[in-house]
Amino acid sequence: MISLCEVRESLTLGEIRFNMPREMTVLEGINSLRSVRKFKSDPVPEDKLRIILESASKAASGSNTQPWEFVVVRDAKMKARLKEPMLRTWLERLAGGSGMSQRMRDVYDDATEMLRNTEKAPVIIYCCIDLDRVGKSEEVRYASIYPAVQNLMLAAHALGLATCLTVHGSTPTRGEPEVKKLLGIPENVKITCLVYLGYPAVRLGHPKRKPIEKFTHYNHYGHRVLSGF
Ligand SMILES: Cc1cc2nc3c(=O)[nH]c(=O)nc-3n(C[C@H](O)[C@H](O)[C@H](O)COP(=O)(O)O)c2cc1C
Repeated sequence: MISLCEVRESLTLGEIRFNMPREMTVLEGINSLRSVRKFKSDPVPEDKLRIILESASKAASGSNTQPWEFVVVRDAKMKARLKEPMLRTWLERLAGGSGMSQRMRDVYDDATEMLRNTEKAPVIIYCCIDLDRVGKSEEVRYASIYPAVQNLMLAAHALGLATCLTVHGSTPTRGEPEVKKLLGIPENVKITCLVYLGYPAVRLGHPKRKPIEKFTHYNHYGHRVLSGF
């Protein structure tokens, strides 16, 4: 986890000047970002939230349509109400599942625990797209929000905050109609995912991922040797 002690540079966004921590390079941030599911109760300061949202808004989108709408929820009562449809549909989904590895079970247990504690997460952010401001094709729609969501999570990480992306509330079978109603989200706006945000209550190591040799092909699918490329 980064420390925020050393502040060497500032960033001006609109009228506001922010002190920026400079310890974490972009590459360090990308390579240490984890999904954190336990948060301290400390509130997320508004200036940090603003930097996070500004950073999200710098992402690419199809034809620069910027179709995103972020619904930031801090109110504990609202979070508790939102939890109900998301948890119910998640538990239904789990009950319908079968044969899972122990590793997956551990992830799912942590995921369920986070969901049960939704009202304790300092902030939750519903990441939505306005369907009237984005192309009709589904691939362009989703590709026009996920870079912004990744920016949001990396910015939070750089500021010493932690995030976990989930898809709760993002489809009819995940409670989307109820969530949209509670939040007053209009018909033409679709929830794509949800980000839990707060100061981390746990320290996680670096992400565990497959080595690049397992999924990289040079010039032709199946040609995995980089030398002579
Ligand atoms: C599309 C998507 C859906 C996810 N859904 C959930 C979820 O419902 N609950 C959860 O706790 N984590 C969820 N995650 C987080 C993943 O479980 C996590 O990224 C993965 O286990 C790797 O862990 P790490 O990011 O800490 O390395 C989701 C991530 C993505 C990209």
